[in-house]
Amino acid sequence: MTDSRTAGKHGPRPDDHVVVLFGATGDLAKRKLLPGLFHLARAGLLPDRYRIVGSAPADAALGTDGFREHAREAVAAFGRSKPEGPAWQEFEATLSFGAADPGAYDPLLTAVRDAEHAIGGNPRRLFHLAVPPKAFPSVVGELGATGLAEGGRLIVEKPFGTDLASARALDETIHGVFDEDRVFRIDHFLGKESVDNIIALRFANGFFEPVWNRDHISHVQIDVPEKLTIEGRAGFFEGTGTFRDMIVTHLFQILGFVAMEPPAALDARSLRAEKDKVFQSMRPLDPAHVVRGQYAAYRDEPGVDPHSDTETFAALRVDIDNWRWAGVPFYLRSGKALAQGRHLVTLGFREPPLRMFPTDSRDAAGGRHNALVIDFDDPGRITARFLAKEPGPEMRLGEARMTFAYTDCFNTAHALEGYERLILDAMLGDQSLFTSADGIERLWEASSPLLQNPPPVQSYASGSWGPDSIHQLIHPYAWYLPDESR
Ligand code: BG6
Repeated sequence: MTDSRTAGKHGPRPDDHVVVLFGATGDLAKRKLLPGLFHLARAGLLPDRYRIVGSAPADAALGTDGFREHAREAVAAFGRSKPEGPAWQEFEATLSFGAADPGAYDPLLTAVRDAEHAIGGNPRRLFHLAVPPKAFPSVVGELGATGLAEGGRLIVEKPFGTDLASARALDETIHGVFDEDRVFRIDHFLGKESVDNIIALRFANGFFEPVWNRDHISHVQIDVPEKLTIEGRAGFFEGTGTFRDMIVTHLFQILGFVAMEPPAALDARSLRAEKDKVFQSMRPLDPAHVVRGQYAAYRDEPGVDPHSDTETFAALRVDIDNWRWAGVPFYLRSGKALAQGRHLVTLGFREPPLRMFPTDSRDAAGGRHNALVIDFDDPGRITARFLAKEPGPEMRLGEARMTFAYTDCFNTAHALEGYERLILDAMLGDQSLFTSADGIERLWEASSPLLQNPPPVQSYASGSWGPDSIHQLIHPYAWYLPDESR
């Protein structure tokens, strides 16, 4: 096999590949994976020769023609480019289908062999498990038993367990067949351009990093409110809740990037090691510093238990006991049915030691000055908020900002969506933006006190910012949101 990182038109180009998509008829494949693969193909980022084999249980009753039609509909509904013209025909021709049921993998084996034969040579195999967690052990076991797993890589979708014991059991199952360096635990937040840019911001510039510590930063907020409700996903959400769905996954991973020490190099090993060290330093969560909320109409949603205790909102304080962050609280918030959908990291800076300006003029800025705000919506922007002198004879201060917006500085047409970027990285064998087994297990370990002793859920109105107690949680600071920028 050749080196994975061979140069292509727009950067490294993966080796020839057979991608096997388990859960090919599911929601994720429809919304993200099939449209994303087509986008990568159109952008010339897929290998020279590749095939995509869709797989699902035989009762999905899908053959290759049915799968192609399913993919066309998915791309038409959710893709950025329409499924038409030569680009689509070329892509469609790479799609085939092989059913797989426990103990009955023959149709899939045949489809993979045919695909490999069509490509020729010795293509790599990439298995993407877009299936519910209860199906993981069976699929992984069959991949091992049939020999399909040999030399192949595995993309695993969250949730990576629901607590420490289940995460360990899952890792054990996976490691029984795939070595850790062939496992790609996907977290689509880490594929967002602006999240990756946190690394560039911190380590490619001379003026941020010197103040990126407890001497200058008073607190940090990682805030991901969502406007959407559970959108008919009661079956999934009831057993999961916001803490497991959003916090222990996406928000903790972002915290890892914001808080990490400079890595020895910009490679997967160093980045993962530094992120894991942050997780090691995380103080076990204190339930007294957690607000669990539930939007008022949640219990009326179809499929939801009328007495449900599942949280649709979580806000919490995280402490990182290391030299850089000791005494600097990190406040995390995410929830459904909130006032806005945003993705924000806010670093609040300490006040200058001397208060020589009139207090009322400082307050005029609504407490939003003295902060660096990273909006990691795609395409994102970064705003430094500070105080400046208002023009006029008096020394009055007003709020001012300096903003970097991706769209003003760069052509974002070539930007990839989170999933696209990460699938490409998995094909290249680059684990930098994927989470390690140790990291995940440590996060569940630190979460144990909360999971064992969750505070009761508090109701909040749809369209609000969560239960009122979030203000006590963050006191003496204030939530940066809502701001006036949307
Ligand atoms: C998913 C969660 O992982 O992320 C969803 O399961 C959530 O509940 C989604 O809505 C948010 O992703 P994004 O990229 O739209 O912010």
